[in-house]
Amino acid sequence: MKTPVTVTVTGAAGNISYSLLFRIAAGEMLGADQPVILKLLEITPCLDKLKGVVMELQDCAFPLVQEIVATDDPAVAFKDANWCMLVGSVPRKQGMERKDLLGINGKVFVGQGKAIAENAAPDCRVFVVGNPCNTNCLIAALNATGMDKKNFFAMTMLDEYRAKSQLAEKAGVPVSAVTNMTIWGNHSSTQYPDFIHAKINGKPVTEVITDTEWLQGEFIKTVQQRGAAIIAARGASSAASAANAALMTVKNLVTPTAEGDWYSVCSYTDGTKYGLPEGIICSQPTRTNADGTYSIVEGLEIDAFSREKIDASCAELLAEKADVAHLA
Ligand code: NAD
Ligand code: LMR
Repeated sequence: MKTPVTVTVTGAAGNISYSLLFRIAAGEMLGADQPVILKLLEITPCLDKLKGVVMELQDCAFPLVQEIVATDDPAVAFKDANWCMLVGSVPRKQGMERKDLLGINGKVFVGQGKAIAENAAPDCRVFVVGNPCNTNCLIAALNATGMDKKNFFAMTMLDEYRAKSQLAEKAGVPVSAVTNMTIWGNHSSTQYPDFIHAKINGKPVTEVITDTEWLQGEFIKTVQQRGAAIIAARGASSAASAANAALMTVKNLVTPTAEGDWYSVCSYTDGTKYGLPEGIICSQPTRTNADGTYSIVEGLEIDAFSREKIDASCAELLAEKADVAHLA
């Protein structure tokens, strides 16, 4: 039997976790032969609710689950963690931008970054879902003294799937026909879903969808505003689709990427690629290598239209970074 992997999930009694935990436990994230230890963190007032989630996990009798720990103590939750999935945060309400949550949520990631550095496995990977996820992730990375910032990620897989699904619908093809979809920048309304490098059945999207006005206008706006549209329609932010994207991000990060393709995830910039400023958590085209490390896809040509969009999103990330300078 493989050595169990310890997965810590914060906000474990919340909506996203209710869709996420059962799929991790079933082996959909790390593999059908990979035992897991689940460590679940909640705030004290939600421990009773978390107890109910644990009872349901137990009642599934998942063969891969070796142990379940439920706690309100970050030191206990992050102990020996191999993966920390930081979901626990307040979601935005209608009319808010995600960055309006920085004042409430940002400080949570100071303590969690420190607790991860002090308690988790040294090569632990940290994946932030709680919004605004890029800058929360940066706060955690900057507070996790001694840890490699390359091991910190934030989620734009949901945006990637939204973009693929819009393109597939417009082209009248199954969503699986859409590949090479990059989300650049921030998981916010400035993100840039890059239709120029994306492909449909191996052909450039722009050869298959010739409605440039739609690609440059409605397509981008729909993807940028999809989270807000869901909040308006559902009265609550995306949960099942967010959990799916979270699970698939980790799966992509641990699975060698198919030849020629890539996926979107936000990672720490080193200032050497695509003119992205150094020291932000920025979404970029990424591949997982055969040895389990990851690389940013290099050599994509960035035209003037894309340059303007990418720069605008990076400028927003730099402004968010300046706003939380006191937390790092
Ligand atoms: P939710 O309110 O249903 O659940 C959040 C849970 O986190 C709650 O149970 C809460 O008690 C817990 N929590 C709060 N502070 C905590 C802390 N310090 N430690 C541990 N737990 C804590 O919210 P949700 O719908 O599950 O969404 C969670 C977050 O994910 C929100 O910030 C939301 O905006 C974000 N989100 C991000 C994406 C993305 O694509 N990156 C997608 C969807 C949602
Ligand atoms: C989403 O994109 O659905 C989430 O980030 C939730 C939100 O606030 O939009």
